[in-house]
Amino acid sequence: MNLPFVNELFSLEGSIAVVTGAGSGIGQAAAIALANFGAEVLLLGRTLEKLKKTENEISKAGGTSKCYKVDISNAEQVRSFFDSFKREYEQLDIFVSNAGYNVREDALNTTEEEFDGLINTNLKGAWRCLKYAGEIMKKQRSGNVVIVTSINGLHPTPNQAIYASTKFALQGLMQSLAATLAPYGVRVNSCAPGAVLTDLTKDIFSVKSVYDAKVAGIPLGFIGQPMDIGAVIASMASGAYRFMTGATILLDGGESLKSPMKMPDGNE
Ligand SMILES: NC(=O)c1ccc[n+]([C@@H]2O[C@H](COP(=O)([O-])OP(=O)(O)OC[C@H]3O[C@@H](n4cnc5c(N)ncnc54)[C@H](OP(=O)(O)O)[C@@H]3O)[C@@H](O)[C@H]2O)c1
Repeated sequence: MNLPFVNELFSLEGSIAVVTGAGSGIGQAAAIALANFGAEVLLLGRTLEKLKKTENEISKAGGTSKCYKVDISNAEQVRSFFDSFKREYEQLDIFVSNAGYNVREDALNTTEEEFDGLINTNLKGAWRCLKYAGEIMKKQRSGNVVIVTSINGLHPTPNQAIYASTKFALQGLMQSLAATLAPYGVRVNSCAPGAVLTDLTKDIFSVKSVYDAKVAGIPLGFIGQPMDIGAVIASMASGAYRFMTGATILLDGGESLKSPMKMPDGNE
């Protein structure tokens, strides 16, 4: 294997990365992967103890990271984080917009509070972070943004109506921002995970019948682990993807293919 070639394509050595929701699940895996690719990673979330665990994992592997208690649904906390970031750092190379949560409810039964909460975190929270990150990247004329959307932002399910709406909106925001920032050398893409085992899904997937039904609907035959998504996010920020912007990578084990898999012998 030509290791120098691979290293040159994928190395993030010397890069500064910010990841929201880095204390668990996909955000944690993305942060660990980015650090393993060589980036210094700033970890954002609401719970410092969770962020510290990510920081410890990164440190054990020889990487560098720092924790910041930031609630992305709070405009003042986000502004204050980026103000101090600009004082402390000269560049922002990678921004991963990952923080978000789910309400499993159809449109008819969603409450005002559930609706506002999802919009404020998943959409408005992501937008306000992207506004600051995008401004820095536009000015420096370089940078990479990866937005974590969802299979639900491409193929909605009835019982996650407003969650799916926020993820569809993020897909639109991603494409619009990609067009705005491409002339400045800034790439903006999204990663749309299918079913992944994290804190967000552990309650539903702890029910054996739900778990088995989900696995049965995934052609690859397994539910994803956070690093199945995190490693791809880190790759997307690397030079290997320098020609990709405004695009979505769907990581769902084939779940969205829907139709039964035909085997060469004609059996399903
Ligand atoms: N798991 C899946 O199957 C799946 C599938 C498709 C898409 N996704 C998406 O992947 C992303 C990560 O989810 P996950 O599955 O990894 O779940 P997770 O383990 O619950 O991670 C979400 C993280 O976001 C943080 N967070 C939540 N609200 C926040 C806020 N207002 N400000 C800052 N941080 C906040 C949480 O930490 P604190 O509570 O400590 O802040 C948590 O660490 C989400 O956007 C989700 O929609 C997940």
